[in-house]
Amino acid sequence: VRVIKSIYSLRRFIKTVKAKNKTIGFVPTMGSFHAGHASLMRKCRRENDILIVSIFVNPKQFGNGEDYQTYPREEKKDKYIAREEKVDIIFYPSVEEMYPKRYLTYIDTVKMSDVLCGQCRPGHFQGVTTVVGKLLNIITPDVFYLGRKDAQQAMILKKMVEDLNYSVKIKICPTVREEDGLAMSSRNNYLTFQQRKEAPVIYKALKQARQKAREGQYRPRNIAEGVRTNIEKNSSGRIEYVACVDANSLSPLKKIMGHCMIALAVIFGKVRLIDNIIFKL
Ligand code: PAF
Repeated sequence: VRVIKSIYSLRRFIKTVKAKNKTIGFVPTMGSFHAGHASLMRKCRRENDILIVSIFVNPKQFGNGEDYQTYPREEKKDKYIAREEKVDIIFYPSVEEMYPKRYLTYIDTVKMSDVLCGQCRPGHFQGVTTVVGKLLNIITPDVFYLGRKDAQQAMILKKMVEDLNYSVKIKICPTVREEDGLAMSSRNNYLTFQQRKEAPVIYKALKQARQKAREGQYRPRNIAEGVRTNIEKNSSGRIEYVACVDANSLSPLKKIMGHCMIALAVIFGKVRLIDNIIFKL
C-alpha cells in the first residue's frame, strides 16, 4: 500500500491509471478502521482494478464541542488493515492540503441536511458533502462505497452526486455488526464496559419496532415511542431522536408504509451512537 499525501501526486498517479483504462474504486473514510470499513474495501477490491482509500478526519463536519480533537487517529493500525485488504493507495492529506488558507466554497444539500442527525448537528452534512465533493473531484473514481449505518449521509451524498452531475456510481453497503448486534463504529471504543454491555439494546429495539410495524402498528409516533421506551428502560442510553422516515427522501412518514427507515441517535455518557433499520411494507 502506498501512502500519498498531496493532491498533486495523487492526480499524477490517477492520470497514469486512467491512461491504462483501469477502473478506480474509492472508499472515503476518517480512518480508525473496523470490520465495517474492511468490508467496504473488500467489495471495492473485488469490483475495481485500483482501490483508493482516503483517511481524513474532516474538521468541517465536526461542530463546536464535538469530538474532532479526540476522534481516534490510528495511522499504523489503519495501514496494516489497508495492506491486508490489498488497498493500492491511501490518500492521507493534511487539513491545509484540503482546506488551504482563504478556503471559501461549500456544498450544501438543503432540506435533507436539516432533519434527523442534521437537527442536532448543524453544519455537519455541509462538511460531509463539501469534503466528499472535493475528494470525488480529486480522485475521479468510477465508483465509491459507503456504509448503510450512516444512512442519512449516504442518501445525501447520493442526492449530491445526482444534483451536481458527478460522473460516479455510488454503492451503499450493509451495516456490519458485532455479534451482539451493535453496529460497528469507531466511537464504540469510547464506551465504558457497562455502556458497551448495554448498547446492543439499540438494534434489539429497532428490530422489535420493525416487527411491530409488520404486525400492523402503522403509527410512526407509536413506533418511535416504543423504541425510546425500550432503550431508555433497558439502558443508561439517552435518546437524542428516533424518527420514522422515507428511506430515500428522509421525509417523515405519516404512516409506516413503503420504503421505511427507523433511524435514531442515542447518547451513552459522552458517546453518541447512531443506527437505523430499513424495511419495505
Ligand atoms: O463516514 C465518514 O467516515 C465520513 O463522514 C466521510 C464520508 C469519510 C466524510 O468525511
